Amino acid sequence: MSDGMPDGQRDELNPIISIEGITKEFQLGDITVAALRGVDLQIFPGNFVSIMGPSGSGKSTLMNILGCLDTPTAGSYRLDGDDVAKMSERRLARVRSQKLGFVFQSFNLLARTTALANVELPLIYNGVPRRQRRERARHALEQVDLADRMDHKPNELSGGQQQRVAIARALVNDPAMILADEPTGNLDTETSTDIMNLFAELNERERITLVLVTHDPETSEYTRRTIHLRDGLVEDITNSPGYKAMANRAAVPEPDAAAVPETTPAA
Ligand SMILES: Nc1ncnc2c1ncn2[C@@H]1O[C@H](COP(=O)(O)OP(=O)(O)O)[C@@H](O)[C@H]1O
Ligand SMILES: [Mg+2]
Repeated sequence: MSDGMPDGQRDELNPIISIEGITKEFQLGDITVAALRGVDLQIFPGNFVSIMGPSGSGKSTLMNILGCLDTPTAGSYRLDGDDVAKMSERRLARVRSQKLGFVFQSFNLLARTTALANVELPLIYNGVPRRQRRERARHALEQVDLADRMDHKPNELSGGQQQRVAIARALVNDPAMILADEPTGNLDTETSTDIMNLFAELNERERITLVLVTHDPETSEYTRRTIHLRDGLVEDITNSPGYKAMANRAAVPEPDAAAVPETTPAA
């Protein structure tokens, strides 16, 4: 299935995610629940994609498969060219920790631990030496504008700040891709806007590939492309007409904000 990228660009790149005919069935006693019923999808480096659909449409199931946290019943998944089904548990764990960053609705931070230590955690799992850990965690917190909150514990931070720490933690390994399941689901509208602007900025500035799940059309407008899921199938793929985040940010520093066009062409 097409990526919605300009043709010339697509030819030069290999997809980071390529799935074909993915199905997922859950067995509940005598009942088989078909959560995914044959999904094909390609996602290319540098894209910013939302997966949208009503509750129960299979968003989290798809996300768990993309994140190598769950295996499909049938179909193939190539992550950065590698067939995931052929990877050993060890290799999968390594791929998860080195190629992927995860952001969750509920932040999932360690409560008694500072922002800096939370962000350092993935580096400890990867055996990065202490000094380098500190430096990289600091840099990641700077990337999410939390340089002044490094020594705060989660309960000393707002919801939006906690999610920023979680995003820094996802960034710190320099992953090929960040996967986020309803990252603004626990945040108010204003804070959600901040977080979506941050994601858009990371996508544009750092060229980070982002895939996020949402049931909220407003949130999906910040992404470049939306995959619409329904009943376990891709119903439609749309490109965001406004690419909202760019228009918003352009309006801030520009003295002549009225001159900023509604639709800014995607980079
Ligand atoms: N572990 C599970 N066991 C049984 N059924 C499941 C499980 N996970 C998801 N499902 C079912 O699969 C379908 C898709 O679920 P999910 O991917 O969580 O949807 P969404 O994230 O879009 O709300 C739903 O019908 C759900 O009840
Ligand atoms: Mg879900």
